[in-house]
Amino acid sequence: MEKIKLELKPGLLPILGAYPVIVIGTKVDEAPDFTTVAWTGVAASVPPSVTIALQHHRHSLKGVRRHMSFSVNIPGTGLVRETDYCGLASGRNVDKAADCRFDVFYGRLDNVPLIRQCPVNHACEVIQILNLGSHELIVGRIVETFVSEDCLTGGRPDPAKIRPFVFTGPGYYSLGEHCGDAFRCGRDINPEAKLDTLDEIKE
Ligand SMILES: Cc1cc2nc3c(=O)[nH]c(=O)nc-3n(C[C@H](O)[C@H](O)[C@H](O)COP(=O)(O)O)c2cc1C
Repeated sequence: MEKIKLELKPGLLPILGAYPVIVIGTKVDEAPDFTTVAWTGVAASVPPSVTIALQHHRHSLKGVRRHMSFSVNIPGTGLVRETDYCGLASGRNVDKAADCRFDVFYGRLDNVPLIRQCPVNHACEVIQILNLGSHELIVGRIVETFVSEDCLTGGRPDPAKIRPFVFTGPGYYSLGEHCGDAFRCGRDINPEAKLDTLDEIKE
């Protein structure tokens, strides 16, 4: 099959890039600010670390720099409008927490506001900020994680109850059907293959 070269874009699934959507929380001038971020990722499992990428002029970036901390709030599909709003309006002009009726709470980091309605919340301390051009890449170490009790199954966070969604150019999409058991459904491809142990694979 012929391959066509595309313009360079950071989408991991080009054209129909699908990105997890999170709402980050910071405190700017003593007020909580919440901002939608799709350019985010897992950076390390030990210690648990994540990245977010913010454009230089974001109001929320002021709070991240000032307190060297931020929260990651994972919204469920019931918060899609609020998530979109937090990506449309700047904390410079509006009080997003009030407009979205967020129930804001705090863990042990005083300057890291968390959204109770989001099923999963991480409080992070910033360990690195890299200027990469259009965006600053912020590496955060997770120091505390909360999950809503009604989103657990057997003591573990359950995606079917959390109902996270992704952002693509045209819209937001929720997760689809379960389509395979992780670390299991690929085993039949070559029954003779020497497989890594789960300890080697995991995270
Ligand atoms: C779906 C979506 C994803 C977004 N992802 C990012 C992002 O990854 N980085 C960023 O700097 N801005 C992103 N934005 C834009 C900011 O959320 C938006 O400009 C927001 O108003 C900034 O708020 P603030 O000035 O209070 O920080 C995104 C917006 C939407 C709607």
